[in-house]
Amino acid sequence: MRAPDATGRFGRFGGRYLPEALVPAARAVEAAFREAWADAAFTTEYRRLLATYVGRPTPVTECARLSEVLGVRVLLKREDLAHTGSHKINNVLGQALLAKRMGKRKLIAETGAGQHGVASATAAALLGLSCTVYMGRTDARRQELNVFRMELLGAEVVTVASAAGTGTLKEATNAALRAWVGETEDAHYCLGSALGPHPYPWMVREFQRVIGDEARAQCAERLPAAVPDVVVACVGGGSNAAGTFAGFVDTPAALVGVEAAGGSAVDKGVPGVLHGFRSHFLQDEDSQVLEAHSISAGLDYPGVGPEHVHLAETGRVRYTGVTDHQAMRALELLTRTEGILPALESAHALAWVVDAAATGELPAGSTVLVTLSGRGDKDVQQIREYFR
Ligand SMILES: Cc1ncc(COP(=O)(O)O)c(C=O)c1O
Repeated sequence: MRAPDATGRFGRFGGRYLPEALVPAARAVEAAFREAWADAAFTTEYRRLLATYVGRPTPVTECARLSEVLGVRVLLKREDLAHTGSHKINNVLGQALLAKRMGKRKLIAETGAGQHGVASATAAALLGLSCTVYMGRTDARRQELNVFRMELLGAEVVTVASAAGTGTLKEATNAALRAWVGETEDAHYCLGSALGPHPYPWMVREFQRVIGDEARAQCAERLPAAVPDVVVACVGGGSNAAGTFAGFVDTPAALVGVEAAGGSAVDKGVPGVLHGFRSHFLQDEDSQVLEAHSISAGLDYPGVGPEHVHLAETGRVRYTGVTDHQAMRALELLTRTEGILPALESAHALAWVVDAAATGELPAGSTVLVTLSGRGDKDVQQIREYFR
């Protein structure tokens, strides 16, 4: 996957659409990232933390029993085994190191499922930064345990409740951007997915490409064809998918991004601008951005990272949606056959595999690599309510 053009666009999408007060701050992040990413001292320190703190490389697990049930060979890239329980930590450590390099003393973050908030609070504790996390009221309620974890880590969690909204990630992001306007001198906005104004979609993908690069090398070691037939990842804003696909985009592997059916922004969204970037957003006929629905807080953002819309337009990646019901069935199947409880988000990627194997869309004997972006511990309460 290439870098965006000079204006931060991937094809027709991306860019930087910000209030004047934030433009210098976003430019400064871009300049700092370009410089740091080319500096061996920075990348060495980043890789050291990934190895000694996050526990990378995360393994690839061969799912013998699940493969037998489905008739296709399933391999999981285990981001659920990364410190703090999901891939979000890869991006956050990169940005926290960058914040320190820029002389900032604070991280501002938004969170939906809470994983990015927990990762931000963790990195802030590790590097001696303060941290404020914005979270919608509904999400704070359904991810109560993660709110407590963030507070335990020393972060301040600000619950966002606007009269009109549903208290999810869209509102948390509005609040975080507003907070950044007042604190650009002191704070770095640590955005949690491959979206937002340039350079975030690109920078976040680069910090997450470790998933795809590792998985590619691990597949080369164990698969006769070196690459799987299909590589699958769930798509909320699109960071774990962008990082995964970055490792396989120049191989013959088919790439599939799985959104929540109630939040399929790539497929059902239309072009628009929100939160500083141009992409596809779910909108009504008056161009008002709609609320997305998903059982998983990490997948109910009404838009998607700009590079994904571009990858869909160029035909390199196929995007599809699965329902809550499909995801929960897949979650149960993985848990029962392999003893691995996936995050609700990751269960979506797996659900596509389960259904594609059943319909023959995935021919018997195909090899599929699925990025398991996180573990389901954070979701246990919700899973229990669903199955009751
Ligand atoms: C475990 C997990 N997977 C996936 C996502 C979706 O985000 P992204 O599309 O940026 O990977 C989230 C978001 O919170 C998450 O917590």
